[in-house]
Amino acid sequence: MIILSIISIAFILFWYRANKNTHQVMLNQIRLSDSEGNGRPSTELNVLQVSDMHLERISITPEELYNKLKNERIDLIALTGDYLDKKRSIPKLVPYLKVFNQLNAKYGIYVVFGNHDYKLKKNDFTTLFKTFENYGCKVLQNHNETIFVKGKQVNIIGIDDHYSNRSDIKKSFVGVEKGFDLVLTHDPSIILQMKDIHFNYLLSGHFHGGQIHWPKPFHLAHMSKEMMDMNMIKGLHYYHGKPFYISEGLGQTSLNIRIGSRPEITLHQILLDIELQKVEKTLTAI
Ligand SMILES: [Fe+2]
Repeated sequence: MIILSIISIAFILFWYRANKNTHQVMLNQIRLSDSEGNGRPSTELNVLQVSDMHLERISITPEELYNKLKNERIDLIALTGDYLDKKRSIPKLVPYLKVFNQLNAKYGIYVVFGNHDYKLKKNDFTTLFKTFENYGCKVLQNHNETIFVKGKQVNIIGIDDHYSNRSDIKKSFVGVEKGFDLVLTHDPSIILQMKDIHFNYLLSGHFHGGQIHWPKPFHLAHMSKEMMDMNMIKGLHYYHGKPFYISEGLGQTSLNIRIGSRPEITLHQILLDIELQKVEKTLTAI
């Protein structure tokens, strides 16, 4: 009986701590600059990336999210999939979309979907799609949009979810002209297919930093053994010389706990008119 009580108390304490981790949102700041740091003038594009909100198990409220981001410089917002997997969660998305609108990103809000979003029935998925459109978001499913940042062409290429076999790289790049190619996609494993495809930077999520990253990244183990073997689980990596980023995501799946990982919001400061050779990363607990 005493042993059972000790085990129960240990489990409760463990669960409490693991759930508390889901409230400790990290603001990761990525700065892409040239290796010389020579102060050459360059055009900045500040991108806020939010991934894997998983509204069924998200610990940060819309108000908290707004307060954490309201003083940041944000030119464009990239949402990289896995918002929910239940129809009843669609209304819960709205206050978060209002927050993204309040941040006044002058180049807009871009959306790609993840494997969980595609669990919705067809009609419910259409409702989700329309909800994004109603709040001014541009949804990219294997296509692209072009913006001009102080005269510099930036191609925003949205590749649909690779994990659920919806990605079409060729179609995504149709019509893309010379410029800075920023790819948005959910599953970073797509880069294994992009060795010969030009892009300047790719933003993704999907792996949740392992979510329960002890003693190994459980959430990732069944998703991409190849990426796990290369230790490409979270953060910034290069594949054949091209940089890509894997967000740990803002919400959780299955259980609302994290061990060895934290929820993440990412600010990418991109300098557009130089080669991306050096990366500086700072982590700020918020
Ligand atoms: Fe996810």
